[in-house]
Amino acid sequence: MVITVFGLGFVGLTTALGFAHLGYQVYGVDANPERSRQIAGGELPFLEPGMDAVLQEHLGLNFFVVDDPKEAVARSEYIFYCVGTPYGEDGAADLTYLFQAMDTTIEAIEDEKFRVLVTKSTIPPGTTAEQIVPHVQKKGEACYRLGIANNPEFLREGKCWEDFLHADRIVLGCSDPISEEMLQKLYEPMGIPIFCVSPTTGEFIKYLSNTLLATLISYSNEMAEAADVFGDIDVAKAFRILHMDKRWGGCNMTSYVYPGCGYGGYCLPKDTCALHAQAKAKGYEPNILGEVISLNAKRFSVIAEKITKGLTKDSTIGILGLSFKPDSDDVRDTPAAKIIGLLQEQGYTRVLAYDPAAMEVFQRQYPQLCVQMAESAGQVCREADRIAILTAWEEFRESVAACTNPIIDCRYMLTAEEIGIPGTEGHVAKSQATTGGSHG
Ligand SMILES: NC(=O)c1ccc[n+]([C@@H]2O[C@H](COP(=O)([O-])OP(=O)(O)OC[C@H]3O[C@@H](n4cnc5c(N)ncnc54)[C@H](O)[C@@H]3O)[C@@H](O)[C@H]2O)c1
Repeated sequence: MVITVFGLGFVGLTTALGFAHLGYQVYGVDANPERSRQIAGGELPFLEPGMDAVLQEHLGLNFFVVDDPKEAVARSEYIFYCVGTPYGEDGAADLTYLFQAMDTTIEAIEDEKFRVLVTKSTIPPGTTAEQIVPHVQKKGEACYRLGIANNPEFLREGKCWEDFLHADRIVLGCSDPISEEMLQKLYEPMGIPIFCVSPTTGEFIKYLSNTLLATLISYSNEMAEAADVFGDIDVAKAFRILHMDKRWGGCNMTSYVYPGCGYGGYCLPKDTCALHAQAKAKGYEPNILGEVISLNAKRFSVIAEKITKGLTKDSTIGILGLSFKPDSDDVRDTPAAKIIGLLQEQGYTRVLAYDPAAMEVFQRQYPQLCVQMAESAGQVCREADRIAILTAWEEFRESVAACTNPIIDCRYMLTAEEIGIPGTEGHVAKSQATTGGSHG
């Protein structure tokens, strides 16, 4: 089986290498020449544990990065689209990259072989039926040999490879039996349960997942703010004890039912907005989602206020963590950027930050934010007047333990003892909250 994957980001590169690992012949195409060059040179363009070795294993053997997709498309029966679907107007999903990649595919087809075009990018319910199918049909006669399918991706950044290999389920949203059969055959060797649904159901399942996670996070943040108003509540401890409820059946959702700095990263913010916009466009007002979005937006100001309370404008604010979650260098929609932006708007211009992986990419992506990067978490703890933990990197614990300046634990990752408040049993806190409300 021969596969072409458009878009070699977190999802696309994982998909391409995953299929190569299953023994298929895979071609990868990315519109960003720098990214293509890096991958073709055997370098991962982002931090993703475990994927380096897989890239080395398959590059040039059965995984090839190509600049011109024409030949790759000609050889392939499966074309996967893993391009970005960022915020568009009014929060709706912008499908420009997806249609560009589909047009490139169609232009490259010169024979009558049946091909299935599979969207792995996250697209709002109804997109395949209402936009992709008519778009592809308009493009020409050869299209009667094309199947159109949706195959949502549920992987988590930082665990992309593990999540590909051990996915909980594979969802195939197909509208024709040939595509369904082809995709089942492709995925069968993985031994993962496969669910065949309509394309719109497939699209919806992805949003069900991400909007529920966003809702849990906003719920947790709202409860943490209510707890602050009630007073005398150890918020971290309360949530960690909540997680011990047997009714959750040991599911691993605790990092989402935990307060933090607000959800960030590439997916939850844009997908929550996109589903909200799509439902509204169809005439339904999703009130809970509306509140989830607005609570999240307000959360950044609540955190900024906590950090600056009682500080003077010439104080140095120390920031620990810039990526949207630990073990990742992804800073797209990271709460740290929102919070630092608010601090600077309020006149706090002396910001000293440290992140184990994301400092360079943060400076590239947010050149408007004036942040001095430190050499270590220890330097931040020594030199800042007040320190805010914005990402729950495990490695911060040591520097924080030795820190004598005030710390605002915006991720609730520390035990009360670690920040000098007696009364928390360390074993409860450390085993339950290693992710410290780091969502994504
Ligand atoms: N990141 C995640 O954790 C995750 C998880 C599940 C689903 N998704 C969804 O998957 C999609 C991709 O996400 P990502 O995080 O991998 O994005 P990404 O930004 O890391 O990668 C997208 C890649 O597509 C490339 N691209 C854009 N237009 C192209 C074109 N016409 N031809 C070839 N390449 C093109 C870009 O250069 C980029 O490298 C999005 O819809 C996202 O919502 C992401």
